[in-house]
Amino acid sequence: MSLLTHLSLLITDLDHTLVGNDESLDLLNQVLDRYRQTLGTKLVYATGRSRESYQDLISTQRLLVPDVLIAAVGTEIYLDAAETLDPAWVDKLSTNWRREEVVAIASRFADLESQPKSEQRPFKVSYYLSPSVVAAVVPQLQELFSHQGLDVEVIYSGGKDLDILPRDGDKGTAVQFLRDRWQIDPVQTVVCGDSGNDISLFKYGNERGIIVGNAQPELRLWHELHPVNYHYLAIADYAAGILEGLKYFQFLD
Ligand code: GLC
Ligand code: MG
Repeated sequence: MSLLTHLSLLITDLDHTLVGNDESLDLLNQVLDRYRQTLGTKLVYATGRSRESYQDLISTQRLLVPDVLIAAVGTEIYLDAAETLDPAWVDKLSTNWRREEVVAIASRFADLESQPKSEQRPFKVSYYLSPSVVAAVVPQLQELFSHQGLDVEVIYSGGKDLDILPRDGDKGTAVQFLRDRWQIDPVQTVVCGDSGNDISLFKYGNERGIIVGNAQPELRLWHELHPVNYHYLAIADYAAGILEGLKYFQFLD
């Protein structure tokens, strides 16, 4: 393996992106471990899970310890190898977020079924919603939020999960926040994802983006509608798709 382009920062979603196939995960871990040792590459996980649910996942998977964990769909950033909640991010999201009003509006919709308590977070309200009613429910929800002056983001992922977050609380905004802090060039940054809550990773900057082969329809559709040469839709699934993308962008040969 010889390293071609300098990879400074890799941000990846966990479920169905990095995690999904043990063999390719082990292979990618070896590559990432080497990047970290030779180039000081930073590794960031960006997951929809709460930190508690992330800890369940790491107890069953062979995952490297990241430099930073972005949890709860971007609304929480844990620094120091996923240990310490970043107070600056909390401050940023606190302005203009009225959680009780969000919950009150959402509770008017019988189709929205609350997710478990562990996934209800200070800046994230989450439900299950059937794909058959999503096209009817989401616009009505958005209409009520904006009528109430609530500047929120509604994200539907994987044909089942509906998250409501502060407008600038998504994974992509969290990545821009970290990249600015670390002063890392987008050209030396890679983002990887598979579903709706990853769209924001691809949306704001011109980081190199890898969409794994097993990606969900909502991310594939977004990619089709916003084609750019710095996003790559892999053929291979999960971590093998990330490896394929790293080769495509010449971070790896
Ligand atoms: C994870 C979270 C869940 C969220 C989903 C999609 O599964 O646990 O709360 O709705 O990601 O973002
Ligand atoms: Mg995922």
